[in-house]
Amino acid sequence: MSTGVMGPGRARVQTKTLRQDRWWLLPLATFVVFSAFVVYATWRAFAGADYYSAPYLSPLYSPCLTDDCVAGSSDFGQPFSWWQLSPALLILIFPLGFRMTCYYYRKAYYRAFWLSPPACAVPDAHQKYTGETRFPLIGQNLHRYAFYAAFLISVINTWDAVIAFQSPSGFGFGLGNVILVANVVMLWAYTLSCHSCRHIIGGRLKHFSQHPLRYRFWTIVSKLNARHMALAWITLGTLALTDFYIMALELGWFSDLRFIG
Ligand code: FES
Repeated sequence: MSTGVMGPGRARVQTKTLRQDRWWLLPLATFVVFSAFVVYATWRAFAGADYYSAPYLSPLYSPCLTDDCVAGSSDFGQPFSWWQLSPALLILIFPLGFRMTCYYYRKAYYRAFWLSPPACAVPDAHQKYTGETRFPLIGQNLHRYAFYAAFLISVINTWDAVIAFQSPSGFGFGLGNVILVANVVMLWAYTLSCHSCRHIIGGRLKHFSQHPLRYRFWTIVSKLNARHMALAWITLGTLALTDFYIMALELGWFSDLRFIG
């Protein structure tokens, strides 16, 4: 094993890496799970069907804003009547933009998909590194604005979860409600744990003592922020599970387990 320092840059390691552990396991797991989610979400987004089983609306189709939305699924009207494709394609750009520009997801997919670099102390698969200083990756800096859009989507998903307690026969409560509420709680935890959110709440302040409310929020968000990676993974699961459950109900694979109503 020979190593040497070449010039003023990084140390050139002749062997591929000096790491002895199974460093490839995490990028591989990331690649498999992310790919599975992308395949599932793409299939469901283009399907344009089986996203509403009263009173449950899939988060992949919320808000449903086009003429094609099935009866009962458009709580916010259908202003995009000219849209001919699946209603999901109209709104998924916002949560997708939020996640694609997320600080954690960036690290994960740069490593798992672009091998840039695949892991700490493992060489980059590419010859050149330009960072996020030019098109298209300079667009990652729009993350703060994607946060505002995702915040609004979380409000709408919360509305969906609340009104789902109103079934056609009055107040009701079933397993679908549990899944919708769990998903929306996790979505809020993920959204509020965002690094941009933390900066919006607590950044640019010289004295926390003069902003006790912001300081209080900032401490809460900071605790969530420490779990941002876990929340990013968990919400992939809750989103897919919620959509799958509603699709299965609509297709008649099984009935909603009702506790009340
Ligand atoms: S959502 Fe991950 S950093 Fe903002």
